[in-house]
Amino acid sequence: MTDSVKHFLDISATDDAELDAILQSAHAMKQARAGQPQGFVEPGRPLENRILAMIFEKPSTRTRVSFDVAMRQMGGQSLLLTGSDLQLGRGETIADTARVLSRFVDAIMIRTFEAEKLAELAEYATVPVINGLTDLTHPCQVMADIMTLQEKKGDVSKLKIAWSGDSNNVTNSWMHAAAHFGFELRIASPEPLQPAGDMLDWCRANSANVIVTEDPDAAADGADCVMADVWLSIHEQGEGTKHNLLKPYQVDETLMSKAKEDAVFMHCLPAHRGEEVTAGVIDGPQSIVFDETENRLHVQKAILAWCLDS
Ligand code: CP
Repeated sequence: MTDSVKHFLDISATDDAELDAILQSAHAMKQARAGQPQGFVEPGRPLENRILAMIFEKPSTRTRVSFDVAMRQMGGQSLLLTGSDLQLGRGETIADTARVLSRFVDAIMIRTFEAEKLAELAEYATVPVINGLTDLTHPCQVMADIMTLQEKKGDVSKLKIAWSGDSNNVTNSWMHAAAHFGFELRIASPEPLQPAGDMLDWCRANSANVIVTEDPDAAADGADCVMADVWLSIHEQGEGTKHNLLKPYQVDETLMSKAKEDAVFMHCLPAHRGEEVTAGVIDGPQSIVFDETENRLHVQKAILAWCLDS
């Protein structure tokens, strides 16, 4: 990796001051364009003449559209590349793909399977690389979620945040965020689906206030925010055992009633109503899921501007 290249690979891989600066910039950009049509281009076109390559080896609605619109709103352009369209899908190496794309574009966003692929892309790219989700983490999502909680609740360091369900890539980025932002993160998962030992070791080593339990009621008790995610992540197949394990972790009206009266419900979407969350909760007054979605756009604009020094 070229030392001067600013990648956004993980919350845990980004300096504390830089995470705060990205979020401040995201709030400012959102406020500055309030009331403008979606096609309104930022004054000064900060990413004019810049091109973002977006590699998707997994499906996406929010990440794909929000990165593309982010580039357009900042005066730049994006290229959508699916794994099967690229020679990457026919065995060209990640290292060569990184070197080739670096000759054509100004930044690369990738959604892929193994975290090692993301790391290798960043090692060989001479332009910034952004993590658009791997099986291990989803940092852009959690940065948008933190921005949303800052809007709704102010200082996030004072919050108690509950997660009910499978411990997945989004949970891992929440654990990284707990270390930086200082909130209490309570993860309720059945024992076989709890966070990996190396993630918990990382939390201990980095003083992240993370509590893991099998009891969703205990996690939600007095919480400021309750979160859920789909029971099968996009790299997983099948149902059965996992669904049976996760049924007691559904976020329903009873679980939400254990949280504070003014608690919010968050979900990174897509959602399966009737599985990880009831329709009454996700479509109810405590749900802020579409604010989370919108903030993907604002926070990713700030990440792009940070990566590209614009
Ligand atoms: N939350 C999220 O990353 O959505 P997509 O999978 O649609 O991009």
